[in-house]
Amino acid sequence: MSNLYMKNASRLVVLVLLGWQLSSCYYDKADIVYPSAGTCDTTAATFSAKVLPLMNTNCNVCHGGTASAGAGIKLDTYTGVRAQLTAGRLLGSLQHQSGFSAMPKGGTKLSDCNIAIIKAWVNAGALNN
Ligand code: HEC
Repeated sequence: MSNLYMKNASRLVVLVLLGWQLSSCYYDKADIVYPSAGTCDTTAATFSAKVLPLMNTNCNVCHGGTASAGAGIKLDTYTGVRAQLTAGRLLGSLQHQSGFSAMPKGGTKLSDCNIAIIKAWVNAGALNN
């Protein structure tokens, strides 16, 4: 093998490795570079449009209406959800923090996006909107 060939071959290896590094970096940071691409939309996180439907889907089989499996906690009205928030129990249980009963009980934690939507509503003042 000629010296020249070895030189070119090692350059190629460096280039390929560099390209791979850059492309993995590109994909890791794609959501930061392009915020609109498949990320979580926390705008318009109102109680009626976002929070209550999440409660109805994930929580109110136990905490809604006449359900008796929710230890008397009601999450099918603004007043009910607001009461858990004010008591400081809503976000900790949703986020499965220690010291809280993980919700939905016996089920899968809500997605990061759905939790972010609920937090956005809280941060905007937890309005009855
Ligand atoms: C399978 C029934 C069930 C589902 C579904 C459920 N819960 Fe609960 N939840 C309970 C029970 C029972 C308790 C009483 C505490 C306990 O037994 O863990 C409770 C307690 C809570 C508490 C008080 C927790 C604490 O640590 O003080 C909150 C807040 C709560 N639930 C919110 C939710 C939310 C929000 C959802 C949906 C994301 C949900 N729950 C889904 C049954 C349920």
